[in-house]
Amino acid sequence: MVVQLDILSAKFLQEMMKTTANLYRLGWDERNGGNITYLLKEEEISPYLNLNHVIRRVPIKFDASELAGKYFIVTGSGKYFKNVMDDPESNLGIIRVTKDGKTIEILWGLEDNGFPTSELPTHFMGHIQRLKVDPNHRVIIHCHATHLIGMTFTHPLDEIAFSKTLWKMCTECIVVFPEGVGIIPWMVPGTDSIGRATAEKMKDVRLVLWPHHGIFGAGTTMDETFGLIETAEKAAQVYTIVCTQGGVKQTITDQQLHDLAKAFGVVPRPGVLELES
Ligand code: 13P
Ligand code: ZN
Repeated sequence: MVVQLDILSAKFLQEMMKTTANLYRLGWDERNGGNITYLLKEEEISPYLNLNHVIRRVPIKFDASELAGKYFIVTGSGKYFKNVMDDPESNLGIIRVTKDGKTIEILWGLEDNGFPTSELPTHFMGHIQRLKVDPNHRVIIHCHATHLIGMTFTHPLDEIAFSKTLWKMCTECIVVFPEGVGIIPWMVPGTDSIGRATAEKMKDVRLVLWPHHGIFGAGTTMDETFGLIETAEKAAQVYTIVCTQGGVKQTITDQQLHDLAKAFGVVPRPGVLELES
C-alpha cells in the first residue's frame, strides 16, 4: 500500500496559503481580486497525490500545448484570498495540462465544481514566455496593488518614465527590477488578447502593469515574485506620499542610479537613465 502524506503540509501549499493571506492583509486583493499560478515539479506532488486519479477535466480555449504535462497549483476563479487559509480545497486547485494543450485535468481541490482563475490565459502565456527566457521561472502573481493602480491615473503610462519614477522613489528598486516595468493599454481582463499582450511584455520584464486594474509579476520562487511586486508597490506608495507632500524637491540622480547598478552588478534597462558622465 502506498502511504500518502497530508497535502496540507506540502511546502507549495503552505506557500500558496501564506501568500494569498498576505496579499489580502495588504489590501491588494479585495473580494476575489488577484490570482496565482505556481509551476510544480512532479516529484513535489507525487508524495501527496495519486497522479493517475483525475477528478475532473476542463477544456480551455487557447493552445497550452507548450505546457503539456506540466503541473500547477492555482487559485480558483471567483475565490476570495481571505478564505484560502480556512478552506484551501475549495479555493485552490492542482491541475495538469493535457498533451494536446486543450484541456486541464484537476487532480486536487477546486471543490464544488470550481474553475481555475479566469486569468489562466495570461498566466499560461506568461509561463510559456518566461520559461523561454528563464528556465528556473515558476511563479506568476496577479494582484490589485493599490498605489500602483493609483499611479496609472496620475502618471504618464510611458514605460520608460514610469520605470524611472519607481526607481527614484526607493534606492532598492533598480536592483530588484533593473529591467523596469512593462505597461499594456487598458484591455478587457480574462481574455486571450490581454494574455498575449502581457506575455509579449514578459519577454523583457517580470512586472507588467494593467492600467486601472493591477499588476502581474513573474519569478522563480513565491518569495521572489511577491517581493518584486511588493518593492514596486512600495515605490508607488512613496510616490503617492511625495505627491501629497507637495512634490519632489530632491531625488536620486541618474548618475547615482548608474553607480548603484554598477555596485550591485545589474544592468538597467537601456534608455531610462541619462548617459553616465
Ligand atoms: P479570478 O477570481 O477569476 O481569479 O479573477 C480575479 C481578477 O483579479 C481578475 O483580473
Ligand atoms: Zn484582477
